[in-house]
Amino acid sequence: MWMYNLLIGLFIISCCESRRNALQDYQTTNGIGLTGTPAAPFRLSRRKMSVAKCAKTCSRAKRFPFICRAFVYDHRNRKCQWLSFDRNSHAVVLSQDDSNYQLYQKKDYVRECIVGTGVNYRGERSVTVGGIRCQTWASPLPHEHKFMSKKYRKNDLRDNLCRNPDNSTVGPWCFTTDPRPHLRYQDCGIPQCSQVECVSCNGEDYRGPMDHTQSGKECQRWDLQEPHKHLHHPKSFQDKGLDDNLCRNPDGRHMPWCYTTDPHTPWEYCHIKVCDTARESNVVETTVCSQGRGENYRGTVDMTPTGLTCQRWDAQYPHTHTFTPQDYGCKDLRENYCRNPDGQESPWCFTTDPRVRTMSCTNIPQCGVQNSQAAEGEMELRLELDGSPSGAPGDWRENALQLHG
Ligand SMILES: *[C@@H]1O[C@H](CO)[C@@H](O)[C@H](O)[C@H]1NC(C)=O
Repeated sequence: MWMYNLLIGLFIISCCESRRNALQDYQTTNGIGLTGTPAAPFRLSRRKMSVAKCAKTCSRAKRFPFICRAFVYDHRNRKCQWLSFDRNSHAVVLSQDDSNYQLYQKKDYVRECIVGTGVNYRGERSVTVGGIRCQTWASPLPHEHKFMSKKYRKNDLRDNLCRNPDNSTVGPWCFTTDPRPHLRYQDCGIPQCSQVECVSCNGEDYRGPMDHTQSGKECQRWDLQEPHKHLHHPKSFQDKGLDDNLCRNPDGRHMPWCYTTDPHTPWEYCHIKVCDTARESNVVETTVCSQGRGENYRGTVDMTPTGLTCQRWDAQYPHTHTFTPQDYGCKDLRENYCRNPDGQESPWCFTTDPRVRTMSCTNIPQCGVQNSQAAEGEMELRLELDGSPSGAPGDWRENALQLHG
């Protein structure tokens, strides 16, 4: 009989878990480690295994005498340490960690927001939205209820923590410690992940916790190549916040997006709260020169270094495109001026030549370049521009002059 059960078990595991990488359920944290105590058990792997295998083992709770909430992966030795605790547990000591070790914690336990009804919420909140302390689930006082039954064991009805064992649409809730009948239960007001941080402009700065697309699909982790192979590896885009499987905008699309775990949908935008007021920004806009990649260049150069006139951003001729002034409200896509709305190396534009779709406006001088270098740049530009059919545009000259004071 046990053999039969084992075979059924193996079948279920191989058939249904193969598609989805168990790592999807974890939040990666750098720079902190968790230390166990006798009250908080952990278990070490004997064999070497991949990080995905560690995650899979942790998620298959039956392997342990405890519920696995997190694991530490040792990248050098390819071993893992499964933990019965996470950073919210009382028994835990936080410590600075070695870069060879990475901590993965189950999102359901450490994240204080929900997606959908929050039926898997395993967080630590124990107060209702009205500020009333929750009743302990195992107790019939002050309110009697059905959730003491064994049937609800898998819902993690620990202590008096907010949970959603009946998948109520209000989200995680609890019975309250207020005996008055009309306050029998109350929801806990745990926010939707799409609401805890807002998006301004096109959301390149968004670093919030949303991890589902606008049609409700789960996002694919940026550090995985399944189900979709892609080039947005976190190591190649270090300043873009490509954490776990969170919605981000590393490449100047209209808003944060992600690859999806649906093999038939490569990527989709995410629906996230929009900020009421544009966030205060300390970036300095420049008009006579381009700082860094020139994302804040607001000058009026409207010609490429080869003398081609730029196409107006609000026009779809000769080139059709998605960089419309409406969709990029913070990018100042005025007239046909060179701009960098999508994090390219420098400001650019679509050109009015049907054969040349886009070109970098490297004729805009770099800010803060030393005089001699700027002079050299000017020489090169002059040569290039002299050779072009339409002659030199006025702007670069003006810019150069202003730059030199
Ligand atoms: C919870 O309810 C939602 C609809 O409100 C449904 O889509 C979802 O499948 C339910 N989840 C579970 C685990 O019952």
